[in-house]
Amino acid sequence: MEAPFIFGKIATDDNFTDREQETAHLVANFKSLINTILISPRRWGKSSLVNRAAELALKSDSRLKICLVDLFNVKSEEHFYQLLAEDVIKATSSRLEEAVGNTRKFISQLIPRITVGNEISGDISLGFDWEELKRTPDEVLDLAENIAAAKDLRIVVCIDEFQNVAEFEDPLYFQRRLRSHWQRHQKVSYCIYGSKRHMMTDIFTNPQMPFYKFGDLFFLEKIKTEYFAPFIAERFAATGKSIDHEACLEIISLADNHPYYVQQLAQISWLRATDGHCTTGIVRQSHETLVQQLSLLFVTITEGLTNQQLALLHAMSAGETAFTSAEVMKKYRISSSMSVSRSKKSLVEKDILDINAGTISFQDPIYAWWLRHCYFI
Ligand SMILES: Nc1ncnc2c1ncn2[C@@H]1O[C@H](COP(=O)(O)OP(=O)(O)OP(=O)(O)O)[C@@H](O)[C@H]1O
Ligand SMILES: [Mg+2]
Repeated sequence: MEAPFIFGKIATDDNFTDREQETAHLVANFKSLINTILISPRRWGKSSLVNRAAELALKSDSRLKICLVDLFNVKSEEHFYQLLAEDVIKATSSRLEEAVGNTRKFISQLIPRITVGNEISGDISLGFDWEELKRTPDEVLDLAENIAAAKDLRIVVCIDEFQNVAEFEDPLYFQRRLRSHWQRHQKVSYCIYGSKRHMMTDIFTNPQMPFYKFGDLFFLEKIKTEYFAPFIAERFAATGKSIDHEACLEIISLADNHPYYVQQLAQISWLRATDGHCTTGIVRQSHETLVQQLSLLFVTITEGLTNQQLALLHAMSAGETAFTSAEVMKKYRISSSMSVSRSKKSLVEKDILDINAGTISFQDPIYAWWLRHCYFI
């Protein structure tokens, strides 16, 4: 029997819970072509949410097209343009001939080489002259708008993992370029999403940055217990197994409502409930298994930290909040208040900590648990 939980992949259908308000909000933005920026730490469900909203918006409006561009692994400006062009063509062509025709018609200056992939899905890949593309990417940046105008469509271009643009050679110049084109688009809107809250927030809320006030900005929250508890119980029931209410709450609490880890811990618990019923005891054993599975990774992460960063994590693990008080600094051997802010900054950059409205927390609840119970003992 297949386990009823999913993690590390887009959550769809029965695997998707809650997010009703956020879904409705996104669908409304898509339909009214309002630019949207969606931010959360890793694995809280951004991609799943956008995917869900895109499906619903597409169903309700036949003139609307949604183009999903995933910048995972995209490290250069040229690669970005290539992917954008391919994905826009794919999203607006229903057949292969149409995809080839659209490419020839709407990218007529750059004249990319066209390699045909899948006949049915209209998949094609485009080969550009990199130098030329970088010099004049205008045709690609305006591609969606030009196609939408010619075919009387409206297009939402969704760009996932946008934080990766920070790795481009000149991110600021690149952002200026995008913004100067995109702000003129009438029939296209953009949904930009990614993790690295700090950096994404800076891009979209700093008045010095090109994307300042580009659109409707929202921060995705974790999933609340009131949704997750019945979700877990239903997923067990769907496979003929059962779970105690207390055990559901234990899963959610040990995973700190983190969507990915709730599903992973539920999955391990489901596998362990071999007699068909899951108890709190099984959940705790499953949590131990999960911590063990990850401990090698946690050791590697921890080995890469400086003593001062570790000192701050130690203080946090012990529940301290006044890191710059003389007492805490002495107890955990933190050298200065400067050191606290330096450590915070680099731990946020390393995706270990998250700062939200001035409150600092661990991004990974299992790592936090491991530090507290296995490392700082
Ligand atoms: N609405 C949801 N209901 C239930 N589980 C969810 C939901 N959204 C996300 N999850 C869980 O979280 C996992 C990560 O989701 P997703 O990939 O959408 O997050 P993300 O924020 O895009 O992550 P990343 O930052 O790594 O790209 C999913 O595989 C699933 O286990
Ligand atoms: Mg994602």
